[in-house]
Amino acid sequence: MRYLTFALTKGRLAVKTMDLLEKAGIFCTEMKDPSTRKLIFVNEELKMRFFLAKGPDVPTYVEYGAADIGVVGKDTILEEGRKLYEVLNLGFGACRMCVCGPEEAKPLLERSQLIRVATKYPHIAADYFYNQKHQTADIIKLNGSIELAPIVGLSDVIVDIVETGTTLKENGLQVLEEICPLSARMVVNQVSMKMEDERIRKLITDLKALL
Ligand code: PRP
Repeated sequence: MRYLTFALTKGRLAVKTMDLLEKAGIFCTEMKDPSTRKLIFVNEELKMRFFLAKGPDVPTYVEYGAADIGVVGKDTILEEGRKLYEVLNLGFGACRMCVCGPEEAKPLLERSQLIRVATKYPHIAADYFYNQKHQTADIIKLNGSIELAPIVGLSDVIVDIVETGTTLKENGLQVLEEICPLSARMVVNQVSMKMEDERIRKLITDLKALL
């Protein structure tokens, strides 16, 4: 039997994924050592391997078949646009992709005039403004603390993840439009889905029963 390889998103998502997998009888003891510097973890008995990667890299590993299965946020799947199968909504990590800004920016979204949008998700923002709203937008890519952009005058609005809404509230911003709901998803390499059909299908069925 060949190894079934999982690419997990480093951080909270990986912890939640392993908690769920454990409930389905899939363990990886060596991954639990907090002091380890190992990058890949193996369960010889189950013939499974697990590695941790940065979110945006997970779909890349899966598309190229370096991982058979990935767990990653829907935001990253949409942004990366990789060729893979999205097979399961795991439900955790739930939040929303939204257009946010100060209240004064509201009218700018109702006209078809040029709007400045700062975001960590330029593809999602471009698709929303160009293809769904048919509004011309100047999309400015940032790498974090996106909420700063409208405060300091870099942009009119932002496209960003809203979870509790606290960051917006504390910075005098609000949700102006909702783009889509987000949560963690399981994705599968297109070839693996055929080659490892039985093992992957069983995994999906077992996880579905737990969700
Ligand atoms: C994310 C997101 C918002 C915040 C939303 O940022 O970009 O800033 O969380 O959460 P809330 O609605 O619960 O306040 P993250 O913490 O990932 O850091 P970043 O600013 O570096 O993207």
